[in-house]
Amino acid sequence: MSTIQVEGKGSFQAEEGRKLVLVLEDNGVDILHRCGGNARCTTCRVEILEGDAGPIEQVEAELLAKKEITDPNIRLSCQVRVHSDLSVRPLMTASESGLEPGGRPQE
Ligand code: FES
Repeated sequence: MSTIQVEGKGSFQAEEGRKLVLVLEDNGVDILHRCGGNARCTTCRVEILEGDAGPIEQVEAELLAKKEITDPNIRLSCQVRVHSDLSVRPLMTASESGLEPGGRPQE
């Protein structure tokens, strides 16, 4: 298990290998995931404050580049699989944006 600390929400345990977006959602963080976790929208993005979010795969790198998101600490939580302790800041939530979160990403 890894400890995921979320700014303003506290910390919780997460099984290794789970998608970060689902860990957040299942622990009460109303993170957006407007494309359903398919690396198309970037609304699930988080800032990694501490810890190693793992390697960035091509699909994530391409979308971030296309959207001109160049900060290496910004990651798509639908593409991050938890494998160690992390401290994160969600950047787009349903409550703050007024948007529907989107379809639940697959496990
Ligand atoms: S990029 Fe759309 S949910 Fe992650």
